[in-house]
Amino acid sequence: MLKMKLLCVFMLATFLKQSAGADCYTGNAYTKCDDCDSDCFTSNVCICSDNSTCLPSTCDLDPSNCCPVEFSWDSSKACCTVEKTCNRICAADEECIFQDDNKICECNKSMYTNKTKQDLKPVVICDSDIISASVSRCLVQSLGYDYNSFYLNNASSGCVYHYNNITNNQRLDTYQLDAKQGWCGNIVTNDSSKIYVTNTVHFNTTPSLLITKNPIAFNITCGYNKTLQTSLQFALKPLIRYV
Ligand SMILES: *[C@@H]1O[C@H](CO)[C@@H](O)[C@H](O)[C@H]1NC(C)=O
Ligand SMILES: *[C@@H]1O[C@H](CO)[C@@H](O)[C@H](O)[C@H]1NC(C)=O
Ligand SMILES: *[C@@H]1O[C@H](CO)[C@@H](O)[C@H](O)[C@H]1NC(C)=O
Ligand SMILES: *[C@@H]1O[C@H](CO)[C@@H](O)[C@H](O)[C@H]1NC(C)=O
Ligand SMILES: *[C@@H]1O[C@H](CO)[C@@H](O)[C@H](O)[C@H]1NC(C)=O
Ligand SMILES: *[C@@H]1O[C@H](CO)[C@@H](O)[C@H](O)[C@H]1NC(C)=O
Ligand SMILES: *[C@@H]1O[C@H](CO)[C@@H](O)[C@H](O)[C@H]1NC(C)=O
Ligand SMILES: *[C@@H]1O[C@H](CO)[C@@H](O)[C@H](O)[C@H]1NC(C)=O
Repeated sequence: MLKMKLLCVFMLATFLKQSAGADCYTGNAYTKCDDCDSDCFTSNVCICSDNSTCLPSTCDLDPSNCCPVEFSWDSSKACCTVEKTCNRICAADEECIFQDDNKICECNKSMYTNKTKQDLKPVVICDSDIISASVSRCLVQSLGYDYNSFYLNNASSGCVYHYNNITNNQRLDTYQLDAKQGWCGNIVTNDSSKIYVTNTVHFNTTPSLLITKNPIAFNITCGYNKTLQTSLQFALKPLIRYV
């Protein structure tokens, strides 16, 4: 009984310590962003105009990018604390983990244990000039494929345009095609009223996997009215290359 009580006290103590959070860093290893012409909005760290890292008191970035690496952003206190917390914004199907001191979002594998290739259904958006196909990153990974290894009919690295974002609580990778004849192996066909642009997205297996699997591939096709006056009706969207 006594042991039980002690345990409870101990647990309460750790809980209080966690919820109290760590102290704001008050040292002077870095300039305060308020004291320099700073940017905590557009870059991927808080920097002064001379590019030196600074300590913010407000920050619009992903919290994992607000502070110098040895600190963590505490939004309730609006400061950088000395405690290292994995506070990166991850999707609901990911978890934040430390890897070599970096905060990364890693897939929660247990959410995808029963998935098969049939679940991999890309969502295709046909804009007049750009075709986008989005798939769940964690699904691709849990099926044993490397989402970074994607390539098109023309496997040149000059044909690799993709980005990722969080949509509906999932990390989506979006692959883009330029809807033009002759672009990166596009296959263009037509019937009496429409022109169809098709390309194939391929993924290789995750290199660390010992089991051999065939690479996976899916076709993306968009149909366009023959009369469509593309550039007159739609603003041209740029292809996005994410590294
Ligand atoms: C800050 O970094 C940017 C991008 O790397 C560079 O263009 C700029 O010249 C740098 N500014 C200073 C003051 O070093
Ligand atoms: C991962 O997913 C499982 C199953 O949905 C869930 O029980 C678990 O809490 C998740 N883990 C994290 C760290 O979110
Ligand atoms: C996977 O399937 C097993 C057996 O049908 C089931 O017990 C388990 O809950 C399923 N897991 C998920 C994450 O759906
Ligand atoms: C593949 O694409 C690259 C980059 O766009 C281009 O330079 C090359 O000529 C293409 N190859 C073929 C066989 O179309
Ligand atoms: C993420 O990408 C998808 C697919 O391109 C797009 O529809 C969506 O608007 C994007 N979401 C955000 C929050 O940028
Ligand atoms: C494809 O377009 C060409 C030129 O407009 C036309 O002559 C041909 O009949 C079309 N093909 C089909 C299968 O309709
Ligand atoms: C993709 O389309 C090409 C050309 O239309 C076809 O030959 C191929 O079988 C298709 N591949 C898949 C995976 O559907
Ligand atoms: C394409 O043609 C169909 C039938 O002629 C028409 O209903 C549709 O609005 C057209 N779409 C565009 C984007 O012009």
